[in-house]
Amino acid sequence: MSDLSAHPITRVFNEYCRRCPKALFDDDGCLIGTSVGTIYNPTIVLGGAQGMWMAVTARIDSFVKLESGEGLVLGEHVHVASFCHIGIGGGLTILEDGTSTASGSKLISGSNVPGLDVPCSAVAPGNKIAKSFVWMKRNAVTFANAVVLPGVTIGENAVVAAGAVVRCDVPAFEVWGGVPARKIGEVT
Ligand SMILES: CC(C)(COP(=O)(O)OP(=O)(O)OC[C@H]1O[C@@H](n2cnc3c(N)ncnc32)[C@H](O)[C@@H]1OP(=O)(O)O)[C@@H](O)C(=O)NCCC(=O)NCCS
Repeated sequence: MSDLSAHPITRVFNEYCRRCPKALFDDDGCLIGTSVGTIYNPTIVLGGAQGMWMAVTARIDSFVKLESGEGLVLGEHVHVASFCHIGIGGGLTILEDGTSTASGSKLISGSNVPGLDVPCSAVAPGNKIAKSFVWMKRNAVTFANAVVLPGVTIGENAVVAAGAVVRCDVPAFEVWGGVPARKIGEVT
């Protein structure tokens, strides 16, 4: 994993860990914590080394896959809509208060590293994974089927349009769309 200890995301992660309940998983990766927010089953959770913290006001809709990886935080009033896959690749993922991921959004916090003679299959021996992060700041939104790549920060109140592929940071209060995503508007 890339060393995020000096990155500002680590301070925010630690703050959320202090104030949100920690979700508990059973051996099959099912969520068994009772004090966390609203979760509509079936939801698949892949437990990770550090785990997942979720505010009691957050909501996860059906058919969502979560990878807690190096850490997954869902803050106050976060909404993860159906068919989202959050934390793909098992890095660190933070959805700050008020953020939402519309149907089919993919937040990729880590990735296989392709190479000569290197398999990218998750179950093949010798595969290589580079872990990073995705950081959605307060009130940011990804609309339907948006894809956010590793190492990206979505700024406060920023909007990622439907179908976008985001490969660099989106500044606060801007609307980005397209493949690769570029600025297409402003939040007014
Ligand atoms: C981001 C979004 C809200 C912008 O809507 P808007 O402010 O009304 O934008 P407009 O339709 O006026 O388009 C503004 C420009 O952005 C472009 N644009 C709009 N949506 C786009 C998209 N998804 N991808 C790429 N470009 C897009 C338009 O082509 C237009 O470009 P132009 O000025 O060169 O013609 C909207 O496009 C969107 O993605 N909606 C999805 C909502 C959704 O998924 N909801 C589900 C959960 S509630």
